[in-house]
Amino acid sequence: MSMPANPPRVIVALDFADPGPAVALADRLDPRQCAVKVGKELFVVAGPEPVRRLVERGFNVFLDLKFHDIPNTVAQACAAATRLGVWMVDVHAAGGRAMLTAARDAVATAAAGQGGARPLLVAVTVLTSLDAAALAETGIAADPGAQALRLATLARDCGLDGVVCSAVEAPLLRAALGPDFALVTPGIRPAGSATDDQARIVAPEQALALGASYLVIGRPITAATDPVAALAAINRSLGTSA
Ligand code: C5P
Repeated sequence: MSMPANPPRVIVALDFADPGPAVALADRLDPRQCAVKVGKELFVVAGPEPVRRLVERGFNVFLDLKFHDIPNTVAQACAAATRLGVWMVDVHAAGGRAMLTAARDAVATAAAGQGGARPLLVAVTVLTSLDAAALAETGIAADPGAQALRLATLARDCGLDGVVCSAVEAPLLRAALGPDFALVTPGIRPAGSATDDQARIVAPEQALALGASYLVIGRPITAATDPVAALAAINRSLGTSA
């Protein structure tokens, strides 16, 4: 596994529509205190350049593009992400066994090819925006928790490093999949901060207690008057300040 011994638990979601404020915020953050996440919004506008810059600044970068396509296409995309030097990359578990194993092999081969660390490869299980009715409309009769466990088990069996899930599901997945499987959890809100559009929110320290490995946190940090202080307060609540 390519993880440093003690990578930061908090992943700050740099959800900005252009690279200026994203890079400006990252320039104020300390790579020992947080990882950062680049998602579709920023990547579609700015491409790989901000990702390279964040890697060069020493951040663990989660490239959150949630690849879901035929195995060859996903494998090539994962290889390209690996060559950017990112720490974590994700795919949809619903892409199936052949796609997941192709992605796993691609990151390993690309990392070996440049003599670098292999990124963590994690799978999105069931989008937290889907409830049982919406899932049923797609032809899946299982309840979202059972389907998340099924897809997480498939991801683990295919040699992936973990999944993206709600902290609410973390105890179920942690119990079934063991202590070393990474559970990456968004929907985190420190006590007293705005819920925004997240429905099932969990406080940072509670998410760790439920079994989460990494906490994806966006607006409670990025929209704070003082993002550096907001991150420091969260790290203090976790007992993980560097
Ligand atoms: O601002 P906030 O803390 O709600 O940001 C959460 C981040 O996690 C966003 O980048 C969002 O896209 C991502 N995410 C999520 N729920 C998921 C998967 C990813 O909120 N199920």
